[in-house]
Amino acid sequence: MRALRLDFDTRRLELADHPEPAGPGDGDVRIRLLECGVCGTDRGVAEFECGSPPAGESALILGHEAVGVVDALGPGVTGLETGQLVVPMVRRNCGPLCAMCRRGRRDNCLTGEYVERGILGLHGYLCELAVDQADDLIAIPSELADFAVLVEPASVIEKAWELALRLHPGEPRSVLVLGAGPIGILAAWCALRNGFEVTVVSREAEDSTRALLLKRHGARYARSLDGVRADVVIEACGSAELAMAAMGVMRRLGVLILLGARPAEVRLPSLDMIIGNHIIAGSVNASREHFGMAVRRLRSYDREWLAGLLHRLPLSQAAETIFTPRPGVIKAVHRISD
Ligand code: BGC
Repeated sequence: MRALRLDFDTRRLELADHPEPAGPGDGDVRIRLLECGVCGTDRGVAEFECGSPPAGESALILGHEAVGVVDALGPGVTGLETGQLVVPMVRRNCGPLCAMCRRGRRDNCLTGEYVERGILGLHGYLCELAVDQADDLIAIPSELADFAVLVEPASVIEKAWELALRLHPGEPRSVLVLGAGPIGILAAWCALRNGFEVTVVSREAEDSTRALLLKRHGARYARSLDGVRADVVIEACGSAELAMAAMGVMRRLGVLILLGARPAEVRLPSLDMIIGNHIIAGSVNASREHFGMAVRRLRSYDREWLAGLLHRLPLSQAAETIFTPRPGVIKAVHRISD
């Protein structure tokens, strides 16, 4: 089958032939991939900053924001039928199971011995066929078919949002989102839907597509932190420096959630944090419940808004997309079959 493979020995990323997965065995489901989105993590892996191929192999099939259709069922699978649209979760349990993985919260795995499809030790979905355990798949209602590729990134937001509200000991009203990429936009929409006052701070010009889109949906858009005050800050821009600067505009009891800040030497405003009862938390991945919440959230959004985020391209252009984000494109999605 055709697959976008990153070879860790030759350091090449290319669309190449790859053996079809074996199975489906007991409890497994074979899925035919329909499309797969590309994000900053794929770039990080392709630039060898993180990630690894499966044990004993030199190449990793990239892609973790996938949508597919059930193509064959292994023995003992119940609750799924061929033809069902599905989104696979990304992370797989550590073994032997830690307390969190045992509880179904592999997103909070305690050992760090988990694997992640398309990222860490397991092949991903920028390919034609994959086999997964039925438990690792989220059934998607057919009316969400055109936007199901957003379920995985939206699940990350659901987890971050739940965490922020759980950590905030007061009655937060205002949210500052750092970054206007797909995660930033989804985070802003989520906060707006929950009745919060939302400011998005990002580099794009005030009249850029992203800024205009956010303003149209009720967010305030700014290119600096001047005059901004917030109870909750969601970092989705990759900059630890900006995240630390945003702590300076956080109200008392404020919560900062880090989603993508890259390692950096930053100054921790410890005294202000203590005086302000501030909280900083990191959040990664998402649980099955968060995937379910993401499906419900996406179904509640205007289809035109969602369509405005996506730009579909053939699989043959995926390597290019990963290395060079396309100007004007908010979320690049690669169709698998052409
Ligand atoms: C994915 C997560 C994953 C994380 C770290 C993100 O892009 O959405 O599911 O856990 O990368 O590998």
